[in-house]
Amino acid sequence: MHPMTFERFLSRDARNFRPSAIRAFAKLINDPNIISFAGGVPNPETFPADLIAEIAGRVIRERRAVALQYGPTRGLPRLCDSIAGICRGRGFDCSADDVLTTTGSQQALDLIAHTLLDPGDVVLVELPTYIGGSSSFFARSATLAGVAQDDEGIVPESLAEVAASLVIEDDPYGELVYVDGADTTAMKSRDVDGRVIYLGSFSKVLAPGLRCGWIVAPRPLLERIEIAKQAADLCSGMLDQSIVDEICAAGELPSQIAKVRAFYRGKRGVLIDALERHFAGRAHWTAADGGLFTFLTLNADIDTGERVKDAVARGVAYIPGGPFFVDGSGRNTMRLTFAKEDDDRIREGVERLGAVFPE
Ligand SMILES: Cc1ncc(COP(=O)(O)O)c(C=O)c1O
Repeated sequence: MHPMTFERFLSRDARNFRPSAIRAFAKLINDPNIISFAGGVPNPETFPADLIAEIAGRVIRERRAVALQYGPTRGLPRLCDSIAGICRGRGFDCSADDVLTTTGSQQALDLIAHTLLDPGDVVLVELPTYIGGSSSFFARSATLAGVAQDDEGIVPESLAEVAASLVIEDDPYGELVYVDGADTTAMKSRDVDGRVIYLGSFSKVLAPGLRCGWIVAPRPLLERIEIAKQAADLCSGMLDQSIVDEICAAGELPSQIAKVRAFYRGKRGVLIDALERHFAGRAHWTAADGGLFTFLTLNADIDTGERVKDAVARGVAYIPGGPFFVDGSGRNTMRLTFAKEDDDRIREGVERLGAVFPE
């Protein structure tokens, strides 16, 4: 059958699928000749590989009836308990019964979209927003509208509608903060009437290959999402969960988080210093007090998408910011990660980038 023949069989939602606008950059990210600020992934050096290997071997040999078996849709009970403890540490009340584990927080976004959205429903997202989240909402034929944010998050005045909505707090970087004394309490801690759905993930503090995330939501809603998850995959990977469960139960998480923070804190400082040196007066950028990225906005009205080739020719790569803005703005922005390169390459890369945008 000719491939085009399938078009007429596609569902309405499938017709609205949008491929990730940044996947196209994968090649650049992995070319060793190019200094890349374009990646979106954690640095493998932060993965506790020996610990994971030791635990994986042990649970496979000694707990095969759990680690290699189907498991509860909600997740391993002891892991749900540990996750509830993490959430209490983020400032809100939580017990194991409030938790549903997911295959990364990406699945959480997809399940929530499946459970809450009808075609044409409007979803308000931050500008810029996480592209994987937009993809999940577009895939349910939703309409996305942007709301402004500043260094503190959403600008409240731009969000009058939230008064009547359910808020999704997608917080995979909650533990990745680089400023001493920063307030890391979740927005959910101020949720007085149960309208915030909180999403967490072990991807950035352990390893994204473990695909272990979670949802905390009001219980009646969580029960619905659980049914959506049963239909999606029955349960998340039990080997992954067993490994994460052992790490949590052994009390290894806080020291791992401290190591990961220290690793990125230095790189983030190097990137911000280099931006000061090569872009001061020509651009401004987010402080990157947490997470893996800064968003840089050029003062000049330049479409950064049009200079990617130029940058690659000079041996440096970035992600143009436009695709992160669902309202079509942000063309003079770019996303830069400090996660991948070593300090010298970060400095060299920013110098090259400065030459790409001399205005
Ligand atoms: C803001 C945000 N949300 C969710 C995810 C998905 O992460 P995971 O599915 O690995 O938990 C990512 C991944 O980069 C992200 O940046």
